[in-house]
Amino acid sequence: MGSASPSAMTAAYSLERANDLYLKNKVTDLFSLKGRVTVITGGARGIGLALAFAVAEVGSDVAILDILDEPHEHFELLQKDYGVKVKLYKTDITQYPVLKASCDAVVRDFGRIDSLICAAGICPDEPFLERDPGAVSRTFSINVLGSYYASQCAAAQMVKQEPTEANPRGGSILMIASIAAYQASKMQYLSDYCASKGAILSLVRELGVELAERGIRVNSISPGYMMTDMTLSISDTRPALAQVFVTEPPMRRMGDRTDLKGAAVYLLSNASAYTTGEDILITGGMHAGRTHLQ
Ligand SMILES: NC(=O)c1ccc[n+]([C@@H]2O[C@H](COP(=O)([O-])OP(=O)(O)OC[C@H]3O[C@@H](n4cnc5c(N)ncnc54)[C@H](O)[C@@H]3O)[C@@H](O)[C@H]2O)c1
Repeated sequence: MGSASPSAMTAAYSLERANDLYLKNKVTDLFSLKGRVTVITGGARGIGLALAFAVAEVGSDVAILDILDEPHEHFELLQKDYGVKVKLYKTDITQYPVLKASCDAVVRDFGRIDSLICAAGICPDEPFLERDPGAVSRTFSINVLGSYYASQCAAAQMVKQEPTEANPRGGSILMIASIAAYQASKMQYLSDYCASKGAILSLVRELGVELAERGIRVNSISPGYMMTDMTLSISDTRPALAQVFVTEPPMRRMGDRTDLKGAAVYLLSNASAYTTGEDILITGGMHAGRTHLQ
């Protein structure tokens, strides 16, 4: 170390000196997913379905993997209105051989996988001391192992496929974590859910580093309270939570799934080409603090 001359060190790390690329790379092109194939777990409804619209709107074909027999009625609009290829596969992300067969079917039907969104998840709400081991294990199977297995299947395909103009190398993986990975939720009992989302943040950082040299970026979004069938059914069972959902965020409203669309496209597209291992909190400001205004 001490014996290397400054010029030898400069030679070893000679820089690519072009510094005018930003003049050529236009924002509209950077955010395009045209010609790519995006796989979405849990995309038959909820956040996954909204993100399916987001990627389709910027040109991506969409393969949805979900355990539901019937998708939400909006799925039909996705098939009709965007001029991209869309297909739904019934699968269980907790069963590795079943999931692997679904990913293989996607590759047969679409030819490749360029992006993955892991949106399948469950959110049990029950006091810690009452949680049954089988129920806890189910949360981890869906929220953590399902995301792990889906990422492994997608990444294995990404590293071996031929480059295209739309995607010269690798791919991008987006996981849906949660503000619950950072803080306890007022009036809710989410022990296994919080722990599972913390595991997602760790997985994102580890895979972001491990897969970087294969050209695969791995990031996450952590939403706060979003209006979906999941939160609607939670507030049906416990109506007092509706007030919490609206009054806790400093912005004094629940998130709409629209609020996640831009961040998802950003993280999947070339607009975030130098970003990996990162989480974006989208919470109406709740992660920063609470105003407690009446
Ligand atoms: N809604 C919120 O306020 C909120 C906030 C933060 C994070 N999240 C996270 O976002 C993700 C999506 O939540 P949502 O509100 O859209 O929920 P949702 O219940 O509306 O959708 C989840 C989807 O996952 C699918 N799924 C569940 N188990 C599966 C399995 N074993 N195999 C395949 N698919 C399976 C379901 O069928 C469903 O379509 C979850 O990971 C959730 O934890 C949601």
